Amino acid sequence: MSERPIQDPAAAHFQLTDRVALITGGAGGIGLAIARRFAGAGARIAVADIRIDAARQAADELKGRGHRAIGLGGDVSRAKDADAVASATVAEFGRIDILVNNAGLMGRVAPLWELQDQDWDRVIGTDLSSVFFVSRAVIPHMRAQKRGCIVSVASIAGKEGTPRLIPYSVAKAGIIAFTKALGKEVITEGIRVNCVAPGVVDTPILHQLPAEATQMMLSKSPMGRFGTADEVAAVVHFLASDDASFITAQCFDVSGGRATY
Ligand SMILES: NC(=O)c1ccc[n+]([C@@H]2O[C@H](COP(=O)([O-])OP(=O)(O)OC[C@H]3O[C@@H](n4cnc5c(N)ncnc54)[C@H](O)[C@@H]3O)[C@@H](O)[C@H]2O)c1
Repeated sequence: MSERPIQDPAAAHFQLTDRVALITGGAGGIGLAIARRFAGAGARIAVADIRIDAARQAADELKGRGHRAIGLGGDVSRAKDADAVASATVAEFGRIDILVNNAGLMGRVAPLWELQDQDWDRVIGTDLSSVFFVSRAVIPHMRAQKRGCIVSVASIAGKEGTPRLIPYSVAKAGIIAFTKALGKEVITEGIRVNCVAPGVVDTPILHQLPAEATQMMLSKSPMGRFGTADEVAAVVHFLASDDASFITAQCFDVSGGRATY
């Protein structure tokens, strides 16, 4: 009788074999780093982004490395686009196991009294309503499967409150509350809901800010540097994997020691 090989449990860590992951804002920055990492762990990827060409390019890159991927265009601040990207993911892959709510923008850097209605609506729509819309579109599939996982990308701004970025701070604080509330709603249904709160990460979103603002942010980093998209993707990957099976309704800091609670 031949001996069965002894499996090294560590070798199986963070596997996402055949899991289907929908990643909003996955065409660049942190979202693309997550898409690459998930694909490398065996997941099938739907990249949804308002920049449809970039979404398709990201999917092509993953396919070029032998992974299964689809690029979808959509503005997830609109409920009908959120429904459409969820439906397209299920049409392509038959299910959705992981949702990463990553799409976001910082908006205009200005004090409260200079903000227009549209400044507020744009950031709240893109950064917070999108999380509600896409999660609502995906959760019925996860409930039917009795399995699923949502990881949203909040920000340290949602915990600290960043002056001159009020809509952004409010939206990100909203994601943290959303995570805690939804996590408790679906806690017995095989669905986990978590979020991450990155500090400043070197991605194209930073280019929306004036140089003095990025310098000020750098000065607040205990590590004296910005984080990388890969460093955020690593935590999202852990949370999306079965290795995080006892973790739900939580917010994880990826801030290089900046967060104090
Ligand atoms: N970079 C940082 O310092 C930092 C820190 C904390 C949190 N975050 C958060 O991380 C997430 C990713 O940011 P990033 O730094 O990679 O920025 P990024 O600008 O590189 O990526 C954001 C992506 O979202 C897409 N997007 C924007 N609006 C969209 C919409 N309405 N519908 C669909 N897609 C849309 C963009 O096209 C882009 O591909 C954001 O939620 C951001 O708030 C970033």
